[in-house]
Amino acid sequence: MAGRLIELPPPRGPLSEELFAALEGPPGPSLGLPAVASPDPLGDEDLQLALYVAYELHYSGIAGVDEGWEWEPSLLAFRSKLERPFEEAVAELVPAAEGSELESVGAALQAIVAEDPGPPLSRYMETQGTLEQMLEQVVHRSAYQLKEADPHSWAIPRLTPAPKAALLEVQFDEYGGGSAERMHSALFATTMEGLGLDPSYGRYLDRWPAITLATVNLVTLFGLHRRRRGALVGHLAGFEMTSSIPNRRYGNALRRLGFGPEVTHFYDEHVEADAVHENIAAWDLAGGLAAVEPEVAADILFGARALLQVEARWAEHLLGAWEAGETSLRSPLVAAVA
Ligand SMILES: [Fe+2]
Ligand SMILES: [Fe+2]
Repeated sequence: MAGRLIELPPPRGPLSEELFAALEGPPGPSLGLPAVASPDPLGDEDLQLALYVAYELHYSGIAGVDEGWEWEPSLLAFRSKLERPFEEAVAELVPAAEGSELESVGAALQAIVAEDPGPPLSRYMETQGTLEQMLEQVVHRSAYQLKEADPHSWAIPRLTPAPKAALLEVQFDEYGGGSAERMHSALFATTMEGLGLDPSYGRYLDRWPAITLATVNLVTLFGLHRRRRGALVGHLAGFEMTSSIPNRRYGNALRRLGFGPEVTHFYDEHVEADAVHENIAAWDLAGGLAAVEPEVAADILFGARALLQVEARWAEHLLGAWEAGETSLRSPLVAAVA
C-alpha cells in the first residue's frame, strides 16, 4: 500500500484557482494574499475547497505538489485569510455557554447533545433511504471517515496527563487497538468496497460539496490551532456522544438494503464502541480538561455545539437535495454495486 496521495481537483472559483496554480510551482512567495468576501462561508464552494486543500497538505501528499508547501509562509498567510471568515461564521451559529453550564462540562455536554438541532438523517436512511442515497451518504462521509480520529490526535501533545490518558483510551480503539485491520478508517474502507465504491483516500474530493468539506475543515481548524484545544475536545465528545444510535440505524439501513456483516461491520462496531467512548469523552476527557484548564471550559462546549450545527446543515443539505429529486453530491455517482 502506498502512502496517502490525493489529486488536485478542478478549482471552484478564484481562491482555489489561485491556490492550485501556485501549488503546481515551487514553494515560495508566488502565492499572494487573497481577497475573501463570502456571504456564506460554510456553503462557499470555492472557499471551502481552497481551505480543504490547504489543510490537506498536513494529512496527505498531493500529486505534483512539492511537500515544502506545507509550512511555506505564503501558504500559511493565504490559509489564515480563509480561516477567519469560516471561524467567524461558525461562531455565529453557536450561542455563548452559560455560567451554570461550566460547573459541570460533562452534564452540559449531555444536555447539548440531547437537543441535537439536526434533522433525523439516520432515521430516514433506516426506514426509507434508497441504495443510491446510502451510497451518496457513504461518499460524503468518506471525507472524514477515511482519516477518522486523525484530526483529534492533534490534541494529544497539548493535554496534561488526566485528559490525555482519556483521549488515548478513545483513540486506541479508533486506531484498531493495535490492529491495522480493525482501525475504524480501515473498517470504513471495507464498507465502501463492499458497496462497490472506491475506498482510496480523497477519491471523491471533487464530488464533496462545500458543506461536506466544512464538516472536515471544522475539525481540522480546531486541531491545527492549539488555542482551540477546548473546541477540539468538545468536538470529539460531541461526535462520540451522537454516534451510537445513528450508527445502529445506518447498519439497519444497509441490512434492509440486503448487505451483510462485512459491509455493516463499521457501523456495528460503533454501536458498541461509542456507547463506551461517549462516557470517557464527556466525563474523563472533556470534564478532565475543564478541571485542569477551566479557562477552556466554554470552548469545549463551543466545539460540541459547532459540530452539531455544521452536521445539521450537512444533513439538511442531503435531505433537501433528495426531496428535490437531485443528487446531494456535486455530480451524480456512477457506481457499480458489487
Ligand atoms: Fe470510530
Ligand atoms: Fe468512537
